[in-house]
Amino acid sequence: MIKEPFRFGHMELKNRLVMPPMATYYCDAQGQVTDKILDYYGARAKGGNIGLIIVEHAFITQVGMAKKNQLSISRDSDVEGLKKLTAVIKQSGSRVMAQLNHGGAAALSEASGMKPISPSPVVLPEISGMGDPDGSVEMTKEQIAELPGIYVAAARRAKEAGFDGVVIHCAHSYLLNEFYSPLTNKRTDEYGGSLDNRLRIHREVIKAVREEVGPDYTVSIRLGGVDYGMEGGNTFEDAAYAAKVFAEAGVDAIDISGGMSRYMRKGHDEPGYFQDTSRAVKAAVDLPVILTGGVRSLEQAEELLQTGAADLIGVGRPLLADPDWADKAMAEYAG
Ligand SMILES: Cc1cc2nc3c(=O)[nH]c(=O)nc-3n(C[C@H](O)[C@H](O)[C@H](O)COP(=O)(O)O)c2cc1C
Repeated sequence: MIKEPFRFGHMELKNRLVMPPMATYYCDAQGQVTDKILDYYGARAKGGNIGLIIVEHAFITQVGMAKKNQLSISRDSDVEGLKKLTAVIKQSGSRVMAQLNHGGAAALSEASGMKPISPSPVVLPEISGMGDPDGSVEMTKEQIAELPGIYVAAARRAKEAGFDGVVIHCAHSYLLNEFYSPLTNKRTDEYGGSLDNRLRIHREVIKAVREEVGPDYTVSIRLGGVDYGMEGGNTFEDAAYAAKVFAEAGVDAIDISGGMSRYMRKGHDEPGYFQDTSRAVKAAVDLPVILTGGVRSLEQAEELLQTGAADLIGVGRPLLADPDWADKAMAEYAG
């Protein structure tokens, strides 16, 4: 199964192995593509053994820049460099997606030069361990109303730059995760309170992006489904409901990770440590689901696929450490 081709959204993938987004911060001070980042992705793509490469999170607007040297998709002038990045990845047959991110309260002011904004004022380090120690300021209604347009412009740039699709980042305590989680969204207007209200901005963003890119372009969302181990946080039921909302709004796929616990889960490092979330989401929607976290061999990936935990498997840190990991693993794997 892992070696078999798979139709993901509007893309044909040569296999079901995914390189999940992992930030290198190898860009220049403005977030533009450098030779260093081209070499890094080129080295991982060259063997042609990774079906889908999702490039690290790119900031879509200056106030949402998470860290220094983060990749930018926030300006039209970024497109030329991004074209080089998609070309280097696609030349060996991998498909490539851009991850669109607004850092919210997790955006460091030392990087963006601005005070971070989020649904409610929070000192995020006390919740997720990330973000500005001085905290964030509450977004105004006007700032929220601008968000769909900001995502739309970034999605347009991704398409122009040759990405095969976009992943909207709603995990790891960044802005859209902050709207979704009751731990960070304390708003009393229509963007806070009930789960439906906490998912209002996601609906608006997904619909606007879909309208911009058209029906044949792949749009996925990375969902930090559950706030594992955090009292008052999102649950499996919330994740399943969110997935339904995203499906109705127009995404082609769901990519599962953690919420305020980020990409880790306390006390867990087994293969597929978010599989309880991915199974809940798969049961709720008829869309392909990616599962990432703790997978260290193709045998482990295969078992997760065979038992229905997900449709595609992400392998992150092994690929970060060893550019040839996928080539060796595919050559050695008998299945
Ligand atoms: C150095 C590093 C950077 C990461 N950057 C991102 C990112 O930009 N966007 C994202 O959604 N996840 C990011 N992640 C999470 C990974 O995509 C992945 O979910 C995580 O590493 C768990 O999978 P693994 O056990 O296979 O490594 C990052 C992880 C690491 C280790």
